[in-house]
Formats: sequence, structure tokens, C-alpha cells
Amino acid sequence: MSVLVFDSGVGGLSILRELRLSLPSASLIYVADDAGFPYGDWEEQRLADRITSLFDRLIAEHRPRLCIIACNTASTIAIEPLRQRFGSTPFVGTVPAIKPAAERTSSGLISVLATPGTVDRAYTRNLVAQFASERHVTMVGAPDLALMAEAYMTGGSVDMDALKTQVLPCFVEREGKRTDIIVLGCTHYPFLANQMRKIAPWPVDWLNPAEAIAHRARAVAGELGTSDPSLAIDRAIFTSGSPDPKLAQLASSFGLTTSGRFSLS
Ligand code: DGL
Repeated sequence: MSVLVFDSGVGGLSILRELRLSLPSASLIYVADDAGFPYGDWEEQRLADRITSLFDRLIAEHRPRLCIIACNTASTIAIEPLRQRFGSTPFVGTVPAIKPAAERTSSGLISVLATPGTVDRAYTRNLVAQFASERHVTMVGAPDLALMAEAYMTGGSVDMDALKTQVLPCFVEREGKRTDIIVLGCTHYPFLANQMRKIAPWPVDWLNPAEAIAHRARAVAGELGTSDPSLAIDRAIFTSGSPDPKLAQLASSFGLTTSGRFSLS
């Protein structure tokens, strides 16, 4: 069966590599909206409209059995409209793992590191109110971190001082206690996890939701009852139609064939 995996850029590859384990017989179509990247500071309605128009085309052209929105910034604004619009196609979203963090913390202090858009969303605030009202939650909107992750993933180096500026606000001390869990609320961030560990003033648990999303995808695929092995080659589609060669190379290193022209006309 074909599974479409969507992100603004290449961060969703952190989810794709787990999907390969949870859905080994699926044929994966990875869609990077590189023409719209980064999503972090897009105005909400404009972004929701853009994503919906993209899916009008993607669903008509590729007819996936299942769609994974491997992007917190997109999921927190568009998952419900997408489900309503494409009723017969199931969507699995990626939203900040606030509930598991609230359940696992020992100190009671958790931080959510995400794009400014995700941090501002009513969806995210509701997760905090619903699941973490007894916890001290610090929301950190990092304007540059997704861009830094893409630069690093495509062979660039990481400016550790810039990384500190983005990440250190997550480390909070309060009444003798310290943050012990940082929720990685953007699918790009796991690719910077090693560098983040190096600048951490104390050890914390960096919560990456990729495995949980992949398990959820397997459960939904199981409900669909289609586990026929697919012979189709896994592909990457870039909405620019002509991605930066480094991005195409990265996709290929993840076993994806970059194919097809794409334009939003
Ligand atoms: N990977 C995306 C997310 O999970 C966002 C990156 C961006 O476009 O700023 O939120």
C-alpha cells in the first residue's frame, strides 16, 4: 500500500526512517514542501490553505491509502481540515508529545521546543491545558532551528553559539528543581540531537515522537487491512519542482528516488 509522508522540508525523514520499520511492506511517497519552507512563521490561515491545496493535488495524483503529516507546524493547523476534506483517507498527525512528557517527568518541569508557529497554536495550548496543567511547562519557539537542521543535514556545520541561543531557554531551574524533559516539537530537531546534548547544561530526556508516530501509523494501516507488499520504489517529491541538489542527494541517501515535476498552479 502507498503511504504519503508530508513535511515542509526534510525533517519528516526522522519519521520516515521509523515508518520503514513499522510498515516494511509500504511504498513511501515523501513530500517536502520545499517551496514553502520554513513553515515556522507562516500566518495560520494562509498555511492551512496552502497545505489543503497541496493535498488536493497529492491525493488526486497519488491516491495514497494513508497520509502521515510528519510536521508539527502543519499538523497543529491543518490536521482537522484535512481529515474533514478527505474523509476516506486516514491522516496520522505529529503534534508535540506533551502528554507523555507530563506523565514521565520526575521534576515536574518540562519544556517544549518547537517552531514559533507551533508554540503559538491553540492546538498546542490545549494539549498543555488538557494533559499538563499540573506541570510547569516552558514553551520555546525557536525561529531558526529548522533552518539550522536542514543546513546541517545537507552537509553544513552547526554554529554552536546560535544553537545555544535557540535551545538554552528550555533549561529552567525553579524551586530547587530542573527541567528533565524537552519535547522535540519539530521533526527537524532530532537531527540536531547530538549537538543539543553537547550544549545542555545538565542531562535531560529529549523526547522524539517518531517511534510513537510510526506505531500509530502501523495501527491505522492494520485497521485498513492492507498489508500487501508493494514493489513500488520509495520516492521523494519536492514542491519546488527543482530542489536544491543537496536536498535531492539527501533524499537519495534515505533510499528515495526524486521524481516528477511539481508546481502549485
Ligand atoms: N518539520 C516541521 C515541524 O515539525 C517544521 C519546520 C519548519 O518548516 O519550520 O514543525
